[in-house]
Amino acid sequence: MAKNNDLRTIKVAPSILSADFGHLARAVSALEKAGADLIHLDIMDGHFVPNITFGPSVVESIRKCTKLPLDVHLMISDPAFFIPRFAEAGADFITVHLEAGPHLHRNIQSIKKLNVRAGVSLNPHSSIVLINDVLGEIDLLLLMSVNPGFGGQRFIERTLEKIRVARRLIDSGHHNCEIEVDGGINDITGKQCLQAGADILVAGDYIFRSKDFSSAIKALKA
Ligand code: DX5
Ligand code: ZN
Repeated sequence: MAKNNDLRTIKVAPSILSADFGHLARAVSALEKAGADLIHLDIMDGHFVPNITFGPSVVESIRKCTKLPLDVHLMISDPAFFIPRFAEAGADFITVHLEAGPHLHRNIQSIKKLNVRAGVSLNPHSSIVLINDVLGEIDLLLLMSVNPGFGGQRFIERTLEKIRVARRLIDSGHHNCEIEVDGGINDITGKQCLQAGADILVAGDYIFRSKDFSSAIKALKA
């Protein structure tokens, strides 16, 4: 795995949202061969976001085709009921949105009790200050750099400042939490995010539009 200037480990988490859903197994094994560090799975309920993807049974099938950690991004309202289902399906990380319900702290605890790493995601409009009191509890902070719901959108520049602030809060609090950025990531915006302090880049459109997954992943880490 590549290291950046501060010797943080840089990881790339391809999002299969941009894959052909009729051939997910093929896409996942190609991504694993190409050097992906995690597989990012976007779960959408048609309520929290205006799109619908797939649920725990598909995650369970994907679990069987790769050894890579499964990074499950829940874009669903009131995720409490589904947390155990995604844990059983084989998720290694489960990320819930701050905006998805009133009981963020409780949801984080439920994820951790199931021995799954816990993530919290912020939509572009949500201030980083809102998760300061749970930063010590989580393994992953997922900053949305587009409005969630669709792949292939344009990166929101303001995210870079949010990454810098998050980096400072995590480092000064000595928290063990990685910063993941999701949406509009390509070789240019990815580099800017890493320089701002991100650890993990999620990329869908950029990787799936490239002819060669391996070079696209390398370009993101370069
Ligand atoms: C958007 C999803 C992203 C999406 C990123 O709601 O959370 O993971 O797949 O796609 P790109 O890289 O195409 O912006
Ligand atoms: Zn995502």
